[in-house]
This record gives sequence, C-alpha cells and structure tokens, in this order.
Amino acid sequence: MIRINTSLSYNERQDNLSIRIEANKRFSNFDLEDWLDEYLPFKPGDIILDIGCGNGNLFPCYSRKLGDRGVIVAIDQSKELLSEAIKCEDTTPKVLLEWDMNDRFPFIERSFNHVISAFAIYYVDDVRAITEDIKKVLKLSGEVFLIGPTNNNARELYEFNKKIFNFDRDEKVIRRTNRIEKEFYPAITDIFESVSVEKIPSKLVFPSKVEFITYYMATLLFEESVKKFGFKPNANKLLSFDIPSFEICKEMIVLRGRKNE
Ligand SMILES: C[S@@+](CC[C@H](N)C(=O)[O-])C[C@H]1O[C@@H](n2cnc3c(N)ncnc32)[C@H](O)[C@@H]1O
Repeated sequence: MIRINTSLSYNERQDNLSIRIEANKRFSNFDLEDWLDEYLPFKPGDIILDIGCGNGNLFPCYSRKLGDRGVIVAIDQSKELLSEAIKCEDTTPKVLLEWDMNDRFPFIERSFNHVISAFAIYYVDDVRAITEDIKKVLKLSGEVFLIGPTNNNARELYEFNKKIFNFDRDEKVIRRTNRIEKEFYPAITDIFESVSVEKIPSKLVFPSKVEFITYYMATLLFEESVKKFGFKPNANKLLSFDIPSFEICKEMIVLRGRKNE
C-alpha cells in the first residue's frame, strides 16, 4: 500500500548526511565553502543564526569570518546532528539548540547580524511565518541567506529513482525542490527591503557506479521512496540497474534579503 505523509519536515540521519557532504566535497566541480568564503559578508564579531545547521558542516566556513569574538547560534531538530556539530573545533563560540523551525524562534528582536540556512529551510511548513520571524530577529542592515536546490537540480537522480520504483517525483519532492524560488522568493520580496537571487550550476561526477549508488542510497529521495513503497532494494540490486552516466547536474539557488527598516 502507498503511504503519503504531507508534512515537509525531515529527520535527517547523521550517516546519510555525512555520505552526501563527503561526496559533494570529493566529486563536485563546485566547492560550496570556497564560494561562501568569497560571498558571505560576515565580519569578525558578528552574531549569526544558522537554521537547520545539521552536523555543523559549514561552521568552519562561518568561523573563518566571525573569529573568536563572533557567535554562531544554530538550531536543528536533530539531537544526533547537534551532538556532532558541538564537536567542531573552530574558534567561534557557539549556542546550539534542539529546536523545530516550525516553532517561533526563542530569540529577542534584533539579535543577529545575519541569518543563514543552507539546504534546510525548505523543510519548514509555513514560509511566511518563518520569513517574518527571520526579519524580526535580524538587526537593522542585517541580511538573510537562503540556499537550496532549484527545480533543475539532480534530474538524473529522479530518472534513476523512476527506474527503481516506477514513479516520478511526487508533489512533496517537487514542492521542496522549488520552494526557495517559488515560495521564499515572493515572501522575502514582500517582507524584506532589498532582495537578490543567484543560481549556480555545478556537477557531481562519480568515479564509479558504486559511488553513485552509495550517494543515491543516502538521499531523502531514496529514503522516502522506500517508505512509500514499503520495500528497500539493497545495494547489489541497485547495482544491477543500468546507469547511462555517473554524473548528476546540480543547480543551487541563493536568495538574499536585507533588512533596511
Ligand atoms: C540537508 S541537511 C543540511 C545541514 C547543513 N545546513 C548543511 O548544509 O550541511 C537539512 C537539515 O535540516 C534539519 N531540519 C529538517 N527539518 C527541520 C525542522 N523542522 N526544524 C529544524 N531542523 C530541521 C535536518 O535535521 C538537517 O540537519
């Protein structure tokens, strides 16, 4: 029987997240950390909020800018991932909070110089509520940075998934992958004073079928497909399917809004 869960929220597993992060570091022609190093305007001493920080993968990148006088405040609903994040050995002090982003933020107004969410905010239920909340907790001239996929992201993976489970992307998957562009962009444009958007294409090129399958098995797409259909093909079974190329084209969107009043 096909089971459908309508919430967009997602309980990320530490092992899966680590596999995907590692694959992106090893096999992508785009280095997110290098790009953020150039792009983010964080300054020494700034206090930033990271929404859906996961295992703190990007903390070292933020820390290089914030230094030991800044503070990283980060929320995630996964205690397991926060327990990893707290081990990050950079010099910036941190406040990590197990918190569901669907609940209003437990912070006073104008607390943060900047707010960032990388590959996480599209799991929220209410886009406008969180966008208004972000604006409230930002200081004047503070900026929000929302990073995530576009509708063009990882189409090869959906094709492969269709071969295995015999279905196209469902409404929930389409909604999540479109969300920064289709739902957050209008909300940020209404609520913030100046807004910009940028799309960045990149490519993951796996050296072998095994690496491709390992990555696929660590995705939410695979996990949700298994849940929906009630059976889990093992790695050997997946390896027996034909894969035309071991490449996945990615497209990332970065939405930026400034609070001027
Ligand atoms: C793909 S991971 C991204 C982690 C990290 N930002 C990074 O770029 O490596 C998505 C994160 O969103 C978190 N998340 C999903 N739904 C959430 C919710 N409702 N409240 C808080 N965190 C949530 C997951 O626990 C996970 O850590």
